[in-house]
Amino acid sequence: METTAEAMKAVAAVGEVFGRRFELETFPWGADHYLKTGVTMPPNGYAMLRDQFDAIFIGALGDPRVADNRHARDILLGTRFELDLYVNYRPVKLLHERLCPLKNRSTADVNFVVFRENTEGLYVSVGGRFKAGTTDEIAIQEELNTYKGVHRIVRHAFEFAAANGRRSVCMADKSNAMAEGHALWQRVFRELAPQYPGIQPRHLYIDALALLMVQNPAQFDVIVTNNLFGDIITDLAAALQGGLGLAASGNLHPGRTSMFEPVHGSAPPLAGKNVANPMGAILSAALMLDYLGLRAEAAVIEAAVQEAVATGNGTQEIGGSLGTRETGDFIALQIRKPRGETQVDAVPEAVPDAAADRQPIGSAANPEEHQ
Ligand code: IPM
Ligand code: MN
Repeated sequence: METTAEAMKAVAAVGEVFGRRFELETFPWGADHYLKTGVTMPPNGYAMLRDQFDAIFIGALGDPRVADNRHARDILLGTRFELDLYVNYRPVKLLHERLCPLKNRSTADVNFVVFRENTEGLYVSVGGRFKAGTTDEIAIQEELNTYKGVHRIVRHAFEFAAANGRRSVCMADKSNAMAEGHALWQRVFRELAPQYPGIQPRHLYIDALALLMVQNPAQFDVIVTNNLFGDIITDLAAALQGGLGLAASGNLHPGRTSMFEPVHGSAPPLAGKNVANPMGAILSAALMLDYLGLRAEAAVIEAAVQEAVATGNGTQEIGGSLGTRETGDFIALQIRKPRGETQVDAVPEAVPDAAADRQPIGSAANPEEHQ
């Protein structure tokens, strides 16, 4: 919640700079609402999100008062499934070398993108518990892999690489042990790779990928993997860029209403204390604007975050002394600085097929004027 407020501050600031008005609507869905009303998502919730909005921004979920995490499953995983947001897009970019926990790494060494399949795998809740609570309990949770599901995420990874000048796509699975489900990943990867002759295909078992990501992250460009493996390695990857507080993500169905969220969870020990790092949320808002075709706006937000990191204007865990709100204020101030004073870094990478189908929202101000 706290980090979301700072992300919206950044969106408002960039809207002012570019002369755009963003219409924001806020929904109270979350643990408080669930505990008060018993409702996680209203019955028409998913359809409303899909039909009435250009994009969804979601804050961190998870609350010790909801032991089974029911609200997070319905709201976050439910929206991923119901809106068929099959691409979990998690860019991993080190903004300053001092943030990397590895020795002697430059920002160029940690700059890759993970595409996590987001609608199937082990997340589909197929299975059940038999004789639950007894010493004979049997718990089964099936992993679902479909040709269509695997094909569209692997294809997306290649398309993204091709559209953004990335050189290699690494597919990670565990086909040495999971010989059925992951044979499908192998098959799809072998089918698709030859269609992208300019891009080097590489396969790694997920355990080896985890090792190599720590030993030498510079070798990675684009990584594509399944839902659970993607969940795990994007936490590892977040550590390489300075921690979960900095990691951004998008849940996409290219061309359709998509959802953006920081990778971090609700961090109960930090909640409400004005200490959480809002940068992951703010960078997620930048991904959202980029997805909506507002690339210059997104670049300005990214550059402002970069400036905050470079000048030590951040929260304590990244070496700063600011609170959540003060970090958000500093970044909003950088965004409002007349262009030319703030260096606009490289424009963020384009999501294939996304911008093409969409009209930028808000007024028709020409973004180029503000460069
Ligand atoms: C994430 C989170 C979620 C996931 C949890 C909250 C269910 O860890 O977005 O990475 O596992 O997908
Ligand atoms: Mn996760």
